[in-house]
Amino acid sequence: MRIKVGVIFGGETVEHEVSIITAVQAMNAMDKEKYEVIPIYITKNREWYTGEMLRDIESYKDFSLIKKYATNVVLYEKNGSYVLQSKGMFKRVVSDIDVAFPITHGTNVEDGVLQGYLQTIGIPYVGPNVYAAATGQDKVYQKQIWSNEDIPMTKYVWFYDADYKRDSDEVVKKVSKLKYPVIVKPATCGSSIGIKVAKTKNDLTDAIGEAIQYDNKIVVEEMVQNLKEVNISILGNYERQKVSIIEEVLSDQDFLTYEEKYLGGKKGKMPRKGKVANVSAKRAMPSKGMLSCTRKMADIKEKTQKEIEDIAIRAFKALGSSGCARLDFMIDQKTNKVYLNEINSIPGSLAFYLWEPKEIKYNELLDEMINIGIKDYRKRSSKTRSFDSNILEGMQNVGVKGAKGKLR
Ligand SMILES: Nc1ncnc2c1ncn2[C@@H]1O[C@H](COP(=O)(O)OP(=O)(O)O)[C@@H](O)[C@H]1O
Ligand SMILES: [Mg+2]
Repeated sequence: MRIKVGVIFGGETVEHEVSIITAVQAMNAMDKEKYEVIPIYITKNREWYTGEMLRDIESYKDFSLIKKYATNVVLYEKNGSYVLQSKGMFKRVVSDIDVAFPITHGTNVEDGVLQGYLQTIGIPYVGPNVYAAATGQDKVYQKQIWSNEDIPMTKYVWFYDADYKRDSDEVVKKVSKLKYPVIVKPATCGSSIGIKVAKTKNDLTDAIGEAIQYDNKIVVEEMVQNLKEVNISILGNYERQKVSIIEEVLSDQDFLTYEEKYLGGKKGKMPRKGKVANVSAKRAMPSKGMLSCTRKMADIKEKTQKEIEDIAIRAFKALGSSGCARLDFMIDQKTNKVYLNEINSIPGSLAFYLWEPKEIKYNELLDEMINIGIKDYRKRSSKTRSFDSNILEGMQNVGVKGAKGKLR
């Protein structure tokens, strides 16, 4: 019997379109002998849809067609099964699923919010759990955890938009602990959205103004000089991990922009070399996904390779991640110093291109991810999370006030 995999994608996130691309790629790559794929698309308005048409990228050009031909559903647990049930007057079970596979990017869907829902209803799911997803999405949380594990990172400070609005001078003073140029980022976005470089103190207000449009938590980092960016992927969970090849990301910008990541650097107005890049999130659908980046195998010494592999595994484990994550590193080519930039818990294209050179095909990668998700579920289920006995049972004739007193 084939395993029914509910691939969940989209959602209310600035990376909505990128998730559609990643999910459609993955659904097409999944082994048809082993898996029955059930697409579950979450619209930007948080409505859930299912239907075969959602496997075709063309369907997303005209949303009215999805509304008309796909089925609006809810996912919930019914008599021990996990079902997609249609909404509206005539409710019916459209499909049941064995395992959920979030192929989602960004806030609300990659940051533990969706994972929390899946875990609450009890369905097995692929990828990071709530904690790993939440810390993986928040650039400040991950830095705080990693600094306790001696993971090398750039110097940084962070603050809330409210702190800045209350006393901007205090924030500027805080940032002055860092060496300029600095880079200002919303803590929980992605795809380079809202990120700006401040070459001097004079640029700081502008950069912070940009970032606080996207998040109430802001991080400011020292910039790595003589930058070479490399990516590595880790496949596994807290028990076992495999490392992919290390790839260099080529860029002639100050940093990788949204266009470079998802539009192949062709569409949209490109900032000129040396200029601070700043890209709006409100874009037409990107065409090619992460693959369109110009890239090559990293030209690094074996010692650096080993160092990156070791840091990547330790960083992945420190967050308790699971599935296939991509970890992005920065190297100062003059000093050869390596810095971990961030983790992408559910990366664009699931980073399959980092596994192919290791003789792991995309369908095999998806296979491993699903197996790991099922293993995680079994592990979770084997732990005691509640007691069968009801401590409230023996209580007699106590009002709400009395009950509270007894439980305290
Ligand atoms: N400290 C830094 N020094 C130099 N370049 C940086 C630094 N932080 C980020 N960048 C550049 O900005 C890009 C986007 O930043 P990143 O933190 O990866 O945000 P996102 O989550 O949007 O991908 C990176 O790929 C890199 O090119
Ligand atoms: Mg990044």
